Amino acid sequence: MKILILGSTGMLGSECKEVLSQEHEVIAPDKKNLDIISWDMVIQNLQEISPDVVLNCVGLTDVDACETEDFKVRKINVEGPRNLAQGSARFECKLVHISSDYVFDGQKMIPQPYFEDDTSNPLSAYGKSKMESETAVRENSPNHVIIRTAWLYGINGSNFIKSIVSQGIQENKVLRVADDQFGSPTWANRLAFQIRELLHHNARGTYHATSEGYCNRFECAKYVLKKLGIKASIEPCSMKDYEGLAVRPANCLLENRLLKNQGINVMRNWKEDLNAFLKKYGEALIKEAKAQKP
Ligand SMILES: NC(=O)c1ccc[n+]([C@@H]2O[C@H](COP(=O)([O-])OP(=O)(O)OC[C@H]3O[C@@H](n4cnc5c(N)ncnc54)[C@H](OP(=O)(O)O)[C@@H]3O)[C@@H](O)[C@H]2O)c1
Repeated sequence: MKILILGSTGMLGSECKEVLSQEHEVIAPDKKNLDIISWDMVIQNLQEISPDVVLNCVGLTDVDACETEDFKVRKINVEGPRNLAQGSARFECKLVHISSDYVFDGQKMIPQPYFEDDTSNPLSAYGKSKMESETAVRENSPNHVIIRTAWLYGINGSNFIKSIVSQGIQENKVLRVADDQFGSPTWANRLAFQIRELLHHNARGTYHATSEGYCNRFECAKYVLKKLGIKASIEPCSMKDYEGLAVRPANCLLENRLLKNQGINVMRNWKEDLNAFLKKYGEALIKEAKAQKP
């Protein structure tokens, strides 16, 4: 397959580029060469490259910034995906688009998860933009896959795991981490393998893809610090104690029901993948955090 990856410099896109290029022809232009906001650039690239699959890993993912940057959020998270959906339809290729747990309001009781056909009710501007991106894809691209994922981490880009490591190594720092937001930490590398599996099965429709099992942010942070032997002071707090602008869902649990029903779920337990990630990159994360230390 010829796969055009957008957002390949980001956390998920970089993993997809590495994993998918093992078996497929991958073309991964950067934003300068293919800005998804530009209809002309989208059409010109699709015409020249003629891909079988367009994989959209682009996103404005700073949830708090999204509250105040309405114009930018709409452009990147909604109009960009609409351009890709209309372009993919015109050139008859499959569009794989990444969405988020933040399309839900998180009001279900833990441990009840959200299913693919549950009603969206986003609490934040980011969540609303992701919900609208899904609509834009469904309405414009007959051959699409929408993948909702959550709590991504990886070696590239900023994420919760990296933030815990960099705070954890600071002397006399007391980490305060919410124990009332629940989710499934998901390795971007594993998700890239799940995307490959979906492509191999010529999947269509909306899928949930997160790690199996769940924890709260505080438990996850404690787990990471312990695994890496970082002796830091850590205290539980509430999501409400954060100064962030966006309201976040308390329950971010997504059930991979469709993947399981179709026998194509390759996602693992969150601890199993986090162990593998920390084994591979733990030292590098500490080194990176020390280099950034003020
Ligand atoms: N991170 C999470 O925990 C999480 C959870 C659920 C769902 N998701 C979804 O997963 C997807 C990937 O997230 P991520 O965390 O990997 O994102 P990321 O690390 O922030 O990467 C975003 C990528 O998009 C590119 N980009 C931004 N604007 C662009 C534009 N106009 N045209 C082309 N490229 C553009 C960026 O390029 P530059 O670096 O050059 O700006 C970067 O490569 C997003 O759709 C996100 O909503 C993420």
